[in-house]
Amino acid sequence: MASADTTHQQGMAADSQQLEAYLGSLPGIGVAPLWESLADLVPVEPRTPDVPFVWRYAEVRPALLRAGELVSAEEAERRVLMLLNPTPSVAERGGTTSTLYAGIQLVLPGEVARAHHHVASAFRCVIEASDGAFTTVDGERAMMSPGDLVLTSNWRWHDHGNDSDDPIIWLDGLDVPLVNFFNANFFELYPDQRQKITKPDNFSTDLYIHGRLNPLSEPRADKHSPVINYPWRETERALRAAIDAGAESPVDGVIFEYTNPFTGGSVMPTLSCFVQAMRPGEHTQARRRTPSAVYHVVRGSGSTIIDGSEYRWEEKDTFCVPTWAAHEHINGSASDEAVLFSFTNQAVYTSLDLYREEVIERQG
Ligand SMILES: [Fe+2]
Repeated sequence: MASADTTHQQGMAADSQQLEAYLGSLPGIGVAPLWESLADLVPVEPRTPDVPFVWRYAEVRPALLRAGELVSAEEAERRVLMLLNPTPSVAERGGTTSTLYAGIQLVLPGEVARAHHHVASAFRCVIEASDGAFTTVDGERAMMSPGDLVLTSNWRWHDHGNDSDDPIIWLDGLDVPLVNFFNANFFELYPDQRQKITKPDNFSTDLYIHGRLNPLSEPRADKHSPVINYPWRETERALRAAIDAGAESPVDGVIFEYTNPFTGGSVMPTLSCFVQAMRPGEHTQARRRTPSAVYHVVRGSGSTIIDGSEYRWEEKDTFCVPTWAAHEHINGSASDEAVLFSFTNQAVYTSLDLYREEVIERQG
């Protein structure tokens, strides 16, 4: 006669076999048990495959110039080295992070990067340029200087030219991983290499950059900023004024967001751009946020502690901070300010009510 325990174990084995057969039958009808995936689908806090990384300008620049010898602008459409996250599943989608794309682009003297447009929105943060380098957007030529932020928003025609004697190099930032996630990207070539110039050079900069004076002759632009170029000379002026006034926060130092003059909100609905300056030796408070971020070092040197590991950066380097990673910046110089440009999808997170941030204890 079987004991109660043995009967129970036999029952369990039978149940286990039945359960296994049951689970094996589910893919055939296109379903899966939520109870085995719930913790992954609804995590206690955000998870990401992204990892932090620093792209060294000292390494990327020579590789990019070599591309200039091997690949023509015509062949390449855009001669860019993508800054790919080390995680293969992110890199396969062209991601610097899961939702952000960054690349370093080169246009040689005399070259034209022909006109096209796409639904993905983009900007250029200029790293190297001499007089005569420009981007044309919807009929306006924006002359480009180091530190300028140049927007080529959703579906705007844009081409790049370089009438100077030196290479122009910039950081490209796009929302490509996000737009492709939504399967919403379109692309089209302009009928000619260059689009027609229909406005005076730097038209939108001259018209809007004063900030509190919007020209009522122009249509109100609610989603995308009408400004093509936010020139560095204006950014520098604002940073200097804020530094002199002591308008800084322990988390960011002195920080500005580039804004749409009509709304005061982000420059584009999918991309939010920022610039911050840190005093010599400044060590910011630590923070984590739901949007991932890409930082570009405009000036200075230092490091960022990300989830307990220190990542050193030099002028013109680019680095990423994953979603919800604790991070704090350190200006490594005792005598000079450090200036960081950065971009995120903060406007997307905010508009969908997904934005969260926490200021936390320093890690270093
Ligand atoms: Fe483009």
